[in-house]
Amino acid sequence: FAGLPSLVEEDLKVAPENAPYRNKVLFDDTSFEAVNELVTSAGFADHAKLIRGFFIDTLPTLPETRYDFVNIDCDLYAPHIECLEYFYPKM
Ligand SMILES: C[S@@+](CC[C@H](N)C(=O)[O-])C[C@H]1O[C@@H](n2cnc3c(N)ncnc32)[C@H](O)[C@@H]1O
Repeated sequence: FAGLPSLVEEDLKVAPENAPYRNKVLFDDTSFEAVNELVTSAGFADHAKLIRGFFIDTLPTLPETRYDFVNIDCDLYAPHIECLEYFYPKM
């Protein structure tokens, strides 16, 4: 809900020169309430839990469990590494 975090060197190496996310925060034009409303109106309120915050802060707060499937879609290098390091040993 706060948009993409800062880019690191690995992101800048592969980002096209004119990529909008080089100079502008993307994905911050929403709110917890707006997403919650979409999830609820789509009938998924009982199957999805929204958690506000960056992975580095929120992943350690998740209950200890095993995962059969994880979809990671967070665009940038460092957040993918954070998610992979957290989830892969729990698969
Ligand atoms: C391309 S969007 C995809 C969102 C969703 N998977 C979808 O298809 O609608 C990437 C999302 O990753 C989130 N994101 C990127 N880095 C993050 C981080 N370190 N912690 C939490 N969210 C992050 C962004 O805020 C953005 O909402």
